[in-house]
Amino acid sequence: MSQRFSGVKGMNDLLPPDIAVWHFLEARARETFRRFGYQEVRTPVVEDTALFRRSVGEETDIVGKEMYTFADRAGRSLSLRPENTAGAVRAYIEHSIHVREPLTRWYYLGPMFRYERMKTGRYRQFWQMGVEAFGSAAPAQDAEVIDLGLQLLDALQLRGVKLELNSLGDATCRPDYLEALTAYLQAHRSELCADCQARLDRSPLRVLDCKNPGCQAVVAGAPLVTDALCDACRDHFDAVRRALDALRAPYVLNPRMARGLDYYTRTTFEFLADAEALGTANAVGGGGRYDPLVKELGGPDVPAVGWAMGMDRIALLLAESGRQEGSGPELFVAVADAAAAERALRLASELRRAGHAVDIDTRGGSLKSQMKRADKSGAALVLVLGERELQSGEAELRPLQGGEPTRVLLDAVGEALAARAR
Ligand code: HAM
Repeated sequence: MSQRFSGVKGMNDLLPPDIAVWHFLEARARETFRRFGYQEVRTPVVEDTALFRRSVGEETDIVGKEMYTFADRAGRSLSLRPENTAGAVRAYIEHSIHVREPLTRWYYLGPMFRYERMKTGRYRQFWQMGVEAFGSAAPAQDAEVIDLGLQLLDALQLRGVKLELNSLGDATCRPDYLEALTAYLQAHRSELCADCQARLDRSPLRVLDCKNPGCQAVVAGAPLVTDALCDACRDHFDAVRRALDALRAPYVLNPRMARGLDYYTRTTFEFLADAEALGTANAVGGGGRYDPLVKELGGPDVPAVGWAMGMDRIALLLAESGRQEGSGPELFVAVADAAAAERALRLASELRRAGHAVDIDTRGGSLKSQMKRADKSGAALVLVLGERELQSGEAELRPLQGGEPTRVLLDAVGEALAARAR
């Protein structure tokens, strides 16, 4: 008896031809990271559960409701990573990177896992690309990572993405702000949802990002963090804004942005699309400073700032704008007579070895069916090989998207393809 399986809910298969958008996205991302001197790190998809509890925070939805947590065979509590900052910081500390490289710039690409309610642009396995810069507390570093994000969005030719900016203060000014916020929220306790009532005292900032309309109405009147910044945090925030102005990076201030993770201090930001393709899942990226985190996780006192973007969401935007890398082969080799099959396969093999993208239908079949397949493959040229071509040692290179055919020696097809690419 055979049995059919479906993929896990919320986890997508990325298949051709849609994968072309992902290749485009990844290539542009790596190229942008290279220009900024960021180097790739790959950390495991599974980490100690306690790492996420300590960094992302016990009271966040991510840790409280969305992690895939399980015990391994030795009884250790492990979790699929819901994000990559925690893993990057863990690796940074574990390998004493600060000793070798006082200013460290990293990037990553990979799948993350959150057990979220699914909808367009929100999945349970999703992909992030992100950057983390360790070792500089300077406002210029905040500006650099934001500039990197904006240049990446430009390289992808994504228009209409808005940058929102905020500062969440630090250990000096945040406690007073949280006290004022808690007092305000207490006064409106009965208007808050059950979740927010429960977390109000332990984690009042989380109320700010609750999506419940009743909670949002209360939040609209809440004290603003940017009114409560200490002098040092205000100076830092002003300097970040001046640096962004100097880079001609447009932004909008949003003093109610709390971000859904606990580790942030000072600058926070989000990249928001207004495209219909994403509905309410319109955050294509977000990030900020997390200066105390490296020390809190047992490392040296090293400041850091970074962001992550949701690749699935960006892929949706790219698909909507019709942007794709041309992915068809340069040449389709069709076989007119069975006697030519072997020579055709050898020709394809040699051209492939020489670096050309070549397709051939290994099932053989009628010339008509092969030509149909050639059309569908998006090949630029087709070459038909039959007895006549075998005898003369010559064949026609026929453009599939219109244009005149040219005759070439079978031994010179590679040169003809190369000349075409120049
Ligand atoms: P985050 O805001 O939780 O931040 O996620 C960053 C981006 O990942 C979001 O803006 C969104 O585009 C995408 N994303 C999040 N959840 C999903 C989902 N369920 N489905 C599809 N896309 C999703 C972080 O993860 C931080 N680690 C960013 C950071 C890096 N902060 C400092 N360094």
